[in-house]
Amino acid sequence: MAKRYATGTLAVQGVDLDIARGDFLALLGPSGCGKSTLLRMIAGLIPVSEGALDFPADAAARRSIGFVFQEPTLMPWASALRNVALPLELAGTPRREAEARAAEMLARVELAGFEHAYPRALSGGMKMRVSIARALVTKPRLLLMDEPFAALDEITRFRLNADLLDLWRAERFTVIFVTHSVFESVFLAERIVVMAPRPGRIVRELSVPAEDRAAPEFRTSATYAAHCREVSHALAEAMEGA
Ligand SMILES: Nc1ncnc2c1ncn2[C@@H]1O[C@H](COP(=O)(O)OP(=O)(O)O)[C@@H](O)[C@H]1O
Ligand SMILES: [Mg+2]
Repeated sequence: MAKRYATGTLAVQGVDLDIARGDFLALLGPSGCGKSTLLRMIAGLIPVSEGALDFPADAAARRSIGFVFQEPTLMPWASALRNVALPLELAGTPRREAEARAAEMLARVELAGFEHAYPRALSGGMKMRVSIARALVTKPRLLLMDEPFAALDEITRFRLNADLLDLWRAERFTVIFVTHSVFESVFLAERIVVMAPRPGRIVRELSVPAEDRAAPEFRTSATYAAHCREVSHALAEAMEGA
């Protein structure tokens, strides 16, 4: 699969990626290597120039995508509850039911009690939680996240990482998570796909087995450090070859 923009830039080339249901996959690479382009093609937001995308192949699956951007992109004039209820209402769910499900989803992202708060009254981490709730409220099969926590402070980011994993373990939707952080990719993902720029392409895939990631205190464990070292080396190699 490839993408050439109208400007002539070959943003993504030769990508061949098999994604299974329930995977948690990280796309890791430096800025400009085509991560966002690949994610936007998977979401159907931009057309593929060459090759094809089989996942999600059917129309039902295509409708079943949640997208979380780096900026929370909330409607400033609407409460947290209204922001989260909107995708359901757009899909035809009656307002009362949409709001009940939105309230439930806000509780799942630890925002019970903030239903009626407006975005300006929420911290960066809380706005991102609203954005995640909005993406998950329709129960998507596929959750696409484009550097969602990059603008947050480290402590908030760690908490959101852990909470996202809890949600994923409970629901088992498929996640494709774009990041340029080695540490974040190892903490979150079972499959780490390393990309390199010019042209954007996949150079390696590494895995962090579930049993490793299930260890208590994983983030401070020797296993975590070892995986981070391996992924850092792979990324450095990818950059040298680029
Ligand atoms: N809409 C666009 N039009 C033209 N070129 C683009 C567009 N979006 C991205 N690019 C180019 O494609 C390449 C990959 O960009 P992008 O997918 O945003 O990378 P990443 O998300 O990894 O930083 C870059 O060279 C970028 O300048
Ligand atoms: Mg990007």
